[in-house]
Amino acid sequence: MVRSVVDRDDTDALSRTHVVLIGMMGVGKTTVGKRVAALLERPFVDADAELVQRSGRTVADWFATSGEPAFRQVESELLADLLNRPEPSVLAAGGGVVIETVNRKRLCQPDVFVVWLRADPAFLAKRVARKAHRPLIADDPVSTLSRLADVREPWYEEVADAVVDVARVHDREQRPKAVLAEHVAHAVRVHEAAGSVEL
Ligand code: S3P
Repeated sequence: MVRSVVDRDDTDALSRTHVVLIGMMGVGKTTVGKRVAALLERPFVDADAELVQRSGRTVADWFATSGEPAFRQVESELLADLLNRPEPSVLAAGGGVVIETVNRKRLCQPDVFVVWLRADPAFLAKRVARKAHRPLIADDPVSTLSRLADVREPWYEEVADAVVDVARVHDREQRPKAVLAEHVAHAVRVHEAAGSVEL
């Protein structure tokens, strides 16, 4: 018997991708990512929290004791592992995930949909708390974030399938995080629908 349309479940299995949120520290990847995962009914993983849980060491300890290169190495291994899982998930990546070429290559694979939450350093500096998992944030967050953004923005752009202007949504909406999550989930659905197959 010939079916006119692929079974709904088959279509999902064919077209669903991992969703990765990228962007600078303080842009809201974790909060928005959790909401996106709820909207798409997929598991959520925060890369930093997962790294801490797996290694039994805080991000601050990785930087202080082993150094940034060692942190970047485990961050890369974790990204590869999470994206090799068969079940599509929503992942909030650490802000520096784009530094390593191997990560950028992995993020450009067709089974990953990357959303860049973009905001300028002045916006981020108001929100970025000096939390223990952000040892790179120094006394002058605006200049630190500007310096990091100058280097990273071309890489965010290189790997992003969609870009969301976070400050614009914060200016216009009463519930910006919820609206940002809806934008991201919508972009994912459009992307995945375009990739679905009709027989
Ligand atoms: C980093 C961002 C942090 C964390 C680490 C390094 C960065 O994650 O991975 O402090 O290099 O931008 P968030 O972006 O979740 O704050």
